[in-house]
Amino acid sequence: MQKFCYFVLVFSVSSLVVGHFKSHRLKHTTLSSIVEHGYPAEYHRVITGDGNVVVVFRIPYSPKLHNMNAKRPIVLLQHGLMSSSDTWIASGPNNALAYLLVDAGFDVWIGNTRGNVYSRKAKKPSWKFSWHEIGYIDMASIIDYALWKNGQRQKSLHYVGHSQGTTVFFVLMSLRPQYNEKIKTAHMLAPVAIMKNINSECLRCIAYVCRPGSLMNYLLSDEASITWKLELIMKFLRKYNCPLLANIFHEKNMNKTANNIAIRHFPSGGSNNQILHYLFNIQSGEFRQYDYGPRKNIRKYSSKRPPLYPVERIKSETHLWYSDADTFTPVVDVLTLARRLPKSILHRMPDPKWSHSAFTVHMQVRRFVNDPIIAIMKRYEQKKT
Ligand SMILES: *[C@@H]1O[C@H](CO)[C@@H](O)[C@H](O)[C@H]1NC(C)=O
Repeated sequence: MQKFCYFVLVFSVSSLVVGHFKSHRLKHTTLSSIVEHGYPAEYHRVITGDGNVVVVFRIPYSPKLHNMNAKRPIVLLQHGLMSSSDTWIASGPNNALAYLLVDAGFDVWIGNTRGNVYSRKAKKPSWKFSWHEIGYIDMASIIDYALWKNGQRQKSLHYVGHSQGTTVFFVLMSLRPQYNEKIKTAHMLAPVAIMKNINSECLRCIAYVCRPGSLMNYLLSDEASITWKLELIMKFLRKYNCPLLANIFHEKNMNKTANNIAIRHFPSGGSNNQILHYLFNIQSGEFRQYDYGPRKNIRKYSSKRPPLYPVERIKSETHLWYSDADTFTPVVDVLTLARRLPKSILHRMPDPKWSHSAFTVHMQVRRFVNDPIIAIMKRYEQKKT
């Protein structure tokens, strides 16, 4: 274990140096995939509340339905940590959520986080942000932009997030509760908020090494995270017996072709602070704001410890889609979260091997996730008209 901790130290330091030099040549993009499958696709640069730029893709209507002039309810899809918009199209037109939604008559928007492989081409951000800023600032901007740009005077939309895409939802909706009025239904795939019961020595070790005030924390903070050599990382993780992390991409019931598309730009980039923020939450067992260490916390929050996210304020109809084999979202923690949310509905995956990334690339993702989500949204729309 000690050896592993040293490895993490050395590897991260070297990645700081080299990480900056990787340039992404994007041959295949979310946009090109959508177009290849015969769907209309749009590229939007959304300027966020603090002047950053995030890239959002859109499939505005379905060529099968010829519904460009019909009322098309908006849906926003938001990817997970180190991931990108690719995750929502990876399973192709017959199985991926983005396409199924479009063919069900929705106006589909697919977000990217600031600094990831797509957004950084539009603007390189300063790396002083975690998922707190992504939720509090960027998601608000994307929601407002989609509502405006759709042009049909819609006041609210449906939201689907995966992993970090759920965390940013919880951040925004708890700290700016007025945004709950802009949500029709919300779907949290692999909801990550409380991480108290994560059962991984390896992650706890990394969390300890990176705790606030540590040398490692100092070295990693406010820097771009690595975007290269995934294979190397995986090799080491397997070697040093960190099955939790190594197994994310090696699941039996996963659509391998789809997974290769989903991770073609993985890790797609962002700030180390996003990872650190999760590690802090693993250590504290609480879903709370970024820990800058006691001195800066007092300046920022007027308390030594960062404040909790008040999830009790999330009034939206929030569906939690979770599974037993997802090591990042222990079932007990999901249930604790569900009890705190005013309006939560639980959906447990029947496959006991259903893992964290399976929510977008499982062989049966259409049957157990995508079709049911679309049915819920359609029911909502029918009730309103
Ligand atoms: C698996 O992914 C490929 C590539 O996108 C897709 O063509 C195929 O329909 C998918 N199959 C299932 C069962 O999801």
